[in-house]
Order: sequence, then C-alpha cells, then structure tokens
Amino acid sequence: MNDKIAVVGAGMMGGAIIKSLIKSGYKGKITAVDIQPERLQEQEKLGVAVTTDPRKAAGDSDIIFIVVKPNDMEKVLKNINHETKGKLVISVAATVPLKFVKKFIPEAKAVRIMPNVGALVQASYTAYSCDPNVTAKDKEKVKALLNMMGICEEVDEKYMDAITALSGSGPGYLSIIIEALMYAGLKVGLPRNIALSSSAQTVLGTGKLVIELQEHPAKIKDMVTTPGGTTIEAIYELEGSQIRQSLMRAVEEAAKKSQQIREKLGFNAE
Ligand SMILES: NC(=O)c1ccc[n+]([C@@H]2O[C@H](COP(=O)([O-])OP(=O)(O)OC[C@H]3O[C@@H](n4cnc5c(N)ncnc54)[C@H](OP(=O)(O)O)[C@@H]3O)[C@@H](O)[C@H]2O)c1
Repeated sequence: MNDKIAVVGAGMMGGAIIKSLIKSGYKGKITAVDIQPERLQEQEKLGVAVTTDPRKAAGDSDIIFIVVKPNDMEKVLKNINHETKGKLVISVAATVPLKFVKKFIPEAKAVRIMPNVGALVQASYTAYSCDPNVTAKDKEKVKALLNMMGICEEVDEKYMDAITALSGSGPGYLSIIIEALMYAGLKVGLPRNIALSSSAQTVLGTGKLVIELQEHPAKIKDMVTTPGGTTIEAIYELEGSQIRQSLMRAVEEAAKKSQQIREKLGFNAE
C-alpha cells in the first residue's frame, strides 16, 4: 500500500498516527498539516512532508486523516471540501458523527475512528465506523492502516460514545491503576523503579493474555489464585471495595459526557 496520506492536525493523536505509520514502514508519502510551526518542526524531524495548508495537502493526497479538536472540524471540512471527491477521509474527532462530516464533504468516502494514545507505541484499540459508500476494498485499506496503530474493529456508529468512554479515555483510568499498584509496591518495600515497571508490565501482560489466549478475565484470575495462597487474600480485600462499581460509573459518566458535548456543539443538528 503506498497511497499518499495527509494528516490534518499533527498534535497528540495526529502525531501518534504518523509515528505508527512510520514505525510500520509505510511506503507512501505522508504529509503532516498543522497551524503550529513547532508541531511541524517535530514532524519534519521524523522525515515526513509538512505544510500549514490543509487544502493543498488534501489535494495532493489519496487518504486524509482529520485529527483536530471537534470544535475545529467544521472549519477544516469546509476548507478541504473541494479536494475530497472519491477520497477516503478518516475523522478522528470524538463526538463528531459521520452525518456531520458528510454534510461538508458529501463526495468523500468518510470513516469515523476512535483510537487511543496507545497508537504512539502501536498498541491502540481503534474502533471504526464507515459511511455506506465506503467499499469493501476501501475497508481493507482502512483496516491495514489502523492495524499499523494496534488492533482495530468495525463497530456500529451508535457505539462510539461508549467506545470513547471505554478505550478512548481508558489509558487515563489504567494509568491511575498502574500508579496505585506502584504505590502498593512502595508500601511493601519495593524500590520505586521496580514497583513501576512490575506494575505496568503486569497490566500489559494481563491484557495480552486476554487478547492472545482469548480468555475471559475470570479465567486469568482463576489461573493465579491458589487455595489458601497470597492472591486470594488480595482478591478478598478487593471484592470488599467499590472497584468494579467505580470503574462502571466512571465509564458511564464519560459516555454521558460524550453525548452531552455532541449535543452542546450542535453536531446532531440536521
Ligand atoms: N488525544 C487522545 O488521546 C485522543 C484519542 C482519541 C481521539 N482523539 C481526537 O483526536 C483529535 C485531536 O486530539 P489531540 O489530543 O491530538 O489534539 P491536539 O493535540 O490539540 O492536536 C490538534 C492539532 O491540530 C491543530 N489544528 C487546529 N486547527 C487546525 C487547522 N485548521 N488546520 C491544521 N491544524 C489544525 C491544533 O493547533 P492548535 O493547538 O493551535 O489548535 C493542534 O496542533 C480530537 O478531535 C480528539 O477528540 C484524541
């Protein structure tokens, strides 16, 4: 695959997308677009083409990622409108529906994605939803690109608020858990660096066990719990806490917020 790609918005997430493409050895030309010169300097060092002109970059590309804040979407879409006919346009903006995107670029083949910051290390979970005019061949391209960022799954667009709340924001929640485990390590006398690396790697390994062995988390829990052993002592303590309910509530509130932001910004309006 060597389509020319423009990434409009080379901030936190746009930068992560570019990095994952480069790390995967993507063969086609990549152009980073941003209005912040220092962002472009960073991208230039990575060896990609840079510009401050979204329309020119879109015109010169086959696939366009739009990775600006939801508030900036309308401006960018209006700007690139005439350069999108028949092209794949991949919107990364949280809360912005495909219908809103299509209103400004009706001749594009639009895809909405929700990655997470794991894309920086090619470990994103990315959900994607496609406009009906995205063909099976286009979807193969989208999947190939998203797999360079981690793993991906096609979902019905109605799940995007929930996905945003769970995996989009998830690195925030898991960082709290890793931090808490690190402090637990300090509490039982581990040096700081060992407490941190053992906590982070344990979270990573548990996720890999669930995904690669396709095991239910309860099975993993069972695998490490011996009768009368150490793990059951810890699980007994955890089950007396509100940890499960706290996580459910956190994700539920984030999903509600995603919906509220969309309504507030008027993305639902016809
Ligand atoms: N960060 C995440 O973990 C994450 C996860 C999933 C989805 N997303 C989505 O990704 C999008 C970007 O988020 P982010 O965290 O990467 O934001 P960010 O770091 O602020 O990056 C956005 C970049 O786009 C630039 N920009 C604004 N208007 C532009 C225009 N007209 N043309 C070119 N560049 C323009 C911004 O410049 P200024 O700073 O001057 O505005 C900024 O450098 C958001 O819609 C967000 O919902 C983010």
